[in-house]
Amino acid sequence: MPDLDTSNTNDILDNISGVNIKNIGINAPKSHAENALLNIRDLTVQYYAPNKITVALYKINLSITQGERVTIVGQSGCGKSTLLNTAAGFLKPAAGEILLEGKPITKPSSERIVVFQEHGLLPWKTALENVAFPLIHAKKLNLEQAVHKAQSALTLVGLHGLQEKFPHQLSGGQKQRVSIARAFAMEPKILLMDEPFSALDQITKNTLQDELLELCKHTNATVFFITHDIREAIKIGNRVIVLSANPGQIIAELDSCYGSDADVVEKQKNQIEQLLGIK
Ligand SMILES: Nc1ncnc2c1ncn2[C@@H]1O[C@H](COP(=O)(O)OP(=O)(O)O)[C@@H](O)[C@H]1O
Ligand SMILES: [Mg+2]
Repeated sequence: MPDLDTSNTNDILDNISGVNIKNIGINAPKSHAENALLNIRDLTVQYYAPNKITVALYKINLSITQGERVTIVGQSGCGKSTLLNTAAGFLKPAAGEILLEGKPITKPSSERIVVFQEHGLLPWKTALENVAFPLIHAKKLNLEQAVHKAQSALTLVGLHGLQEKFPHQLSGGQKQRVSIARAFAMEPKILLMDEPFSALDQITKNTLQDELLELCKHTNATVFFITHDIREAIKIGNRVIVLSANPGQIIAELDSCYGSDADVVEKQKNQIEQLLGIK
C-alpha cells in the first residue's frame, strides 16, 4: 500500500486564506499525544472475504485528549464506522494499535459508549427504564440510584415529562435524546457517536446538535463523532479530521472555525469539500 501523496492536500490548504489551519502533518502522530486519552497509532483495519481483502483504514494516527470533541468527516464508505467500531472494541486492528489511557482496546466496554444513528432502545421498556437498565447491569448501581441518575439524565435532555413513555410513543428526536441520555448517564471515558443525527429532519438535527454541545459543556465529556455532513463536523468538533476513501486515510486535520463569522465557516466548509474532491 503506497503512502499518501499530500501535495494536492497542501495546495488546497495553502490556497484558502482566512481559515485557521493546524497540524497538517499527514498520518504523523498529532498534538497532545503524550497525555492523550485515546491514542490511535498506525492503525490498519481490514475486512476479509473469500478471495478478497478490503483495506478499510490504512495507517491512521490520531490522539484525543480528555474534554476534546473530535469529528471525523468523509464520504460514505471511507471507513468512518470502521474507525469508530474499532475504538468501540467491535473490530480488531490488522496492524497498529488503538489505546485508551495507554491500554489496548480489545473488546467492548462501558468506558466507551457508542451512540448510533438508530437509537437502539428496548421497545418494551420506558424511556426511564431504557436509561436505568444499563446503569444497573454495567455500572452495578442499585435500583434507586439508577432511577435517580436516569431521571437526571432525562431532565438534562429535556425529557423529564416523558420518562414513562415507551419508544413507540416518542418522536425520532425524542428517541435519540433518550439514547443520548442513556450514554451520558453511563459517564463513559469517551463517547463514540456514529452519525447519531443523520436520520433526523434538519430542524431537529440542529436542535440536537445544540443540545449535545450544551451537554458537553456541562459535563466536559470527550466525544469522538463521525459524520458525512461537513457543517455538522465543523459545528460539533473542536478538531475536524478529514478522511479519504479507498483506503481510509487521514488527509487533513483542522481546528474548527465554528463560532467565527459565517463566511469563515463557509470557507472552511468549502476547503473540506475540496479536500474530499466534492468541488
Ligand atoms: N462487514 C464488512 N465486510 C466487508 N467490507 C466491509 C464491511 N463493513 C464495511 N466494509 C467496507 O469497508 C469500507 C468502509 O466502510 P464503513 O466503515 O462502513 O464506511 P463509512 O462509515 O465511512 O460509510 C467500505 O468499503 C465498506 O464497503
Ligand atoms: Mg458509517
